[in-house]
Amino acid sequence: MDDLTENQGEKATMIVEESGLDMDIAPESCLLEGMADPCTIVILGASGDLTVRKVIPALYMLFKNKGLSKDFLVVGCARTELGDDGFRDKMRAAINEDESVDNSSWQEFASHLYYRSIIYDDLSTFKDLKISLDELDKTYKTGGNRIFYLAIPPTLYSSTAQMLGKVGLSKEKEGVWSRIVVEKPFGRDLDTAVELDRTIHEYFKEHQIFRIDHYLAKETVQNILMFRFSNAIFEPVWNRRYIDHVSITTAESLGVEHRAGYYEQAGVLRDMFQNHMMQILALTAMEPPSLFEADRVRDEKVKVYRSLRPFPVDRLQDYLVLGQYGAGAIDGKRVPAYRDEPGVSPDSLIPTFAMLKVYLDNWRWQGVPFYLTSGKRLKRKLTEIAIQFKEVPHSMFRQTLGEHISANRLILGIYPDERITLTFQTKNPGAKVCLRSVTMDFHYDQSYEGPEFDAYEKVLLDCMLGDHMLFWRQDGVELCWSFLTPILQECETCGERREMLMPYEAGSEGPHAVKKLMADSW
Ligand code: BG6
Repeated sequence: MDDLTENQGEKATMIVEESGLDMDIAPESCLLEGMADPCTIVILGASGDLTVRKVIPALYMLFKNKGLSKDFLVVGCARTELGDDGFRDKMRAAINEDESVDNSSWQEFASHLYYRSIIYDDLSTFKDLKISLDELDKTYKTGGNRIFYLAIPPTLYSSTAQMLGKVGLSKEKEGVWSRIVVEKPFGRDLDTAVELDRTIHEYFKEHQIFRIDHYLAKETVQNILMFRFSNAIFEPVWNRRYIDHVSITTAESLGVEHRAGYYEQAGVLRDMFQNHMMQILALTAMEPPSLFEADRVRDEKVKVYRSLRPFPVDRLQDYLVLGQYGAGAIDGKRVPAYRDEPGVSPDSLIPTFAMLKVYLDNWRWQGVPFYLTSGKRLKRKLTEIAIQFKEVPHSMFRQTLGEHISANRLILGIYPDERITLTFQTKNPGAKVCLRSVTMDFHYDQSYEGPEFDAYEKVLLDCMLGDHMLFWRQDGVELCWSFLTPILQECETCGERREMLMPYEAGSEGPHAVKKLMADSW
């Protein structure tokens, strides 16, 4: 794996500009885009992990930070018979450990929570749900606006969207909206993605569909476009003339955890590449849209996906490394091999690591490799984009320093290091002619202390505001599947499948083969 975090030398800390102009922008004014409409958020799959871990905590935090209209309701739906109080108690117990939850605000929030049980293949239970929602609308001033959040297994997406449609819950009228939120995976290949979209579209129109990718809502990911297009100095060098290669890394130290059932069907390419990696690639490589507006931004992303050079599937090894973690140690603690994780087949051929060398066939990026790397059970959690610039064309110091002078490197740290660093050369103090690498370092928390919205808070809020900026559009989904499906097919059906899967030790930097894949660029 690219040694992205190598400390190249001393640091020169950047001072955050606090001119009068900057101070005009009060932090509070950056907090909320607008006031969300009154609405009911219906969570289908309310007894599942996603509801408890992400959706309810995000709604609670939004409530606490005054991001919700005072007229909101949350209606949890699942097969289990629970009742309103049962649901409230279950949610409270689940987030008990969370220190940001205080009793009085929780009590107030919980008074907005309701529960209705539902059988996903029984239309009559959806009819009952509609009657209940209509009644709740009459009692509370939710205005009839509704969000249906599919926190259910992907196999139920199509049928549930259809059930909602059949009982009239997808219908909108003047000033009253109905929206559906779909979590990834959007299909498992091109055909299934097209089919899923077709069934959802039978009742919901495109403007009603919100396809979530939580990476898009991370502050540091949103910042990529701000950074690129609000500074005049970077864009002129953001191209093949000055950039040698780009590395996008999402490394995790966690293993498959309790998600073997899903992961054994998905593997790293479907889990991380078809969504998060492709979005980060598009944000890094896209052209500036004429306006920061959802469809114009998404149009530009789609152009990036259209320019992806198809993988030569007969020479996959030249462009792709797949790996699976073996036993090892993370932070000094022994961890099992993927095949020994609960629920994983002992002879599983599912990759937990992948590096793809990708080219974009367009004017700006011709010939520049993009290395996309993601894996589980690596040395540490690290998400970042590293822009490796070219070396100086000629070294006038060659008599004393030789030809080689380290090239500049810009790192956009996404997580956990939320920072931007730029490494460059300076003279080392002293009588002898010597260079040293120094790093300018900006940390996001350096100039801001106010509340922050986590990714799920942001996407829920945007859905209430009807803003599609941070959501996938179907053409992008299909273009990415068109790129990945032939690779997946080749990897999953070829005779050398077993040989293609490189073992790596948990806690390491991934399979050794990544070095060979990157060798061309060094
Ligand atoms: C999810 C994947 O979409 O993203 C997980 O399904 C992965 O396998 C997770 O662990 C990583 O997200 P984050 O925000 O922790 O980087």
